[in-house]
Amino acid sequence: MTDTPSPLRFDDAQLHILDQTRLPFSEHELRIDTAAQAAHAIATMQVRGAPLIGAIGAFGLALALREAAEDAWLDFALRMLAETRPTAVNLAWALRRVEVAVRPLAPHDRADAAWREAMAICDEDRAANRHIGELTLDLMQAITPKSGRLNLMTHCNAGWLATTGWGTALSGIYLARQAGIDLHVWVSETRPRNQGLLTAWELARAGVPHTVIADNAAGQLMREGRVDAVIIGADRIAANGDTANKIGSYLKALAARDNGIPFWVAAPWSTVDLSCRDGRAIPIEEREGREVRELRGAAGGARLLEETSAVENPAFDVTPAALVTALVTELGVIECSRVVSLEAFAPAINPQKLM
Ligand code: MRU
Repeated sequence: MTDTPSPLRFDDAQLHILDQTRLPFSEHELRIDTAAQAAHAIATMQVRGAPLIGAIGAFGLALALREAAEDAWLDFALRMLAETRPTAVNLAWALRRVEVAVRPLAPHDRADAAWREAMAICDEDRAANRHIGELTLDLMQAITPKSGRLNLMTHCNAGWLATTGWGTALSGIYLARQAGIDLHVWVSETRPRNQGLLTAWELARAGVPHTVIADNAAGQLMREGRVDAVIIGADRIAANGDTANKIGSYLKALAARDNGIPFWVAAPWSTVDLSCRDGRAIPIEEREGREVRELRGAAGGARLLEETSAVENPAFDVTPAALVTALVTELGVIECSRVVSLEAFAPAINPQKLM
């Protein structure tokens, strides 16, 4: 099967990213040379999506250690990178993983070891996502479409742009397309940051039939029998299966349940946070009101709302485990209604070795 593109490119030991704030209108690469640039790229969403944020955090730490490698600098860089975005646990997970690999080493060995660990995180992420796609494809093939073709709905962007390759929710869609399955994807625009437009851009490039909808149209399409399954990614999954994902995911889950439509969450195990007992412990990022007050498009920005009205802009919501039909990780498909704690599924060893 053909591999998907990646939002990262390397020449020698230099990191280049695709600037997602310029998509879908222009494809512009940025070189990331320092930890501060990596932190800026995460905070401003030049890179976004839980697994990708984790990978860039790991490279950011490696770049910090090229600047200086003493403990005090390591601690400073860890804090700076960790504070960029709070909800996607993949960032803390990746930073911790690199820290564990380098802290016992002498300072002059740390930068190279950190870079190797960041590269390993990327390789494992791609492999995990690919396997998630295969498992999702099995779920899709078990469904009898209500019309001639399989109609899936997704939210936000959980494609290759949001990971180091393949994506999570979109991985199975790419495999289904390559297998010649007749499918169509409803893509919700995902206000206020419009990550759905990134999904549309990805699907268009891959020749996957899709239709963009306003977020508010999702429930009506489900009622009309035009959706066979909903599939989304995740930013943090609590031990009881409660799932934080892009704001608006919860409403889709509610509508899916009311209409008897399967609601699947696809995510690598690095998104599971067993230290959160349930969704109430997941920190929800609150972003600037400007994202709601302004529309951004090809021609720049346009103001929609004056300062006379207050704005609230939570970037994520939590879907209770009871509304999730299945959690698809590289370790297998977990039926959430049967789960008391995901702890029972936690790999005793590196999950990649289980594949
Ligand atoms: O704010 P973003 O664009 O980083 O949010 C991304 C999402 O919510 C994705 O659905 C999630 O990270 C899964 S990405 C494979």
